[in-house]
Amino acid sequence: MAFYSSSSTSALAALAVLVFAVHLLPPATQGQQQFAPPVSEICLGCICEAVSNCNQSLRCSGDVCGVFRITWPYWADAGKPVLAQDQPGDDGAYARCANEPFCAARAVQGYMAKYAQDCNGDGRVDCHDYAALHRLGGYGCRGNLDQAFRDKFSNCMVQVAQLNGGQV
Ligand SMILES: *[C@@H]1O[C@H](CO)[C@@H](O)[C@H](O)[C@H]1NC(C)=O
Repeated sequence: MAFYSSSSTSALAALAVLVFAVHLLPPATQGQQQFAPPVSEICLGCICEAVSNCNQSLRCSGDVCGVFRITWPYWADAGKPVLAQDQPGDDGAYARCANEPFCAARAVQGYMAKYAQDCNGDGRVDCHDYAALHRLGGYGCRGNLDQAFRDKFSNCMVQVAQLNGGQV
């Protein structure tokens, strides 16, 4: 396969994204879904790569939890999505959701649905804006992204664009 010949780190990033997109996220167009979620699976994969290398062993540390490194206020802004057995007000509902990739991805979708905007002023709202929103928040997304996040995100986007005919 062609992408194995690129640098091993990049190939790994691309693979992690694909694993994330294919195995962890529910199909976007299932029966009762009424609105298409704003963020594509590929985009979720690249945000997760950039923020945590998509390391699914990550749990809570400091004020962040899970593969998307979600804080309590972020989760609250996202509409407090929860696991099936939880209610939003339950003790630990936030951590259990943020530590579970499907639920965490729903939190990202909820957050982006609330704060979607053209952070970089290029005339569209796309994955670059969602990444900035995730890293910098709904009121700070025009600011500068730290180098490590930017590099991992850009690298992932290049990789998936190559695998996906340029669509992200
Ligand atoms: C993933 O995170 C765990 C827990 O912090 C860490 O021990 C492990 O080395 C990480 N794995 C990778 C591949 O970075």
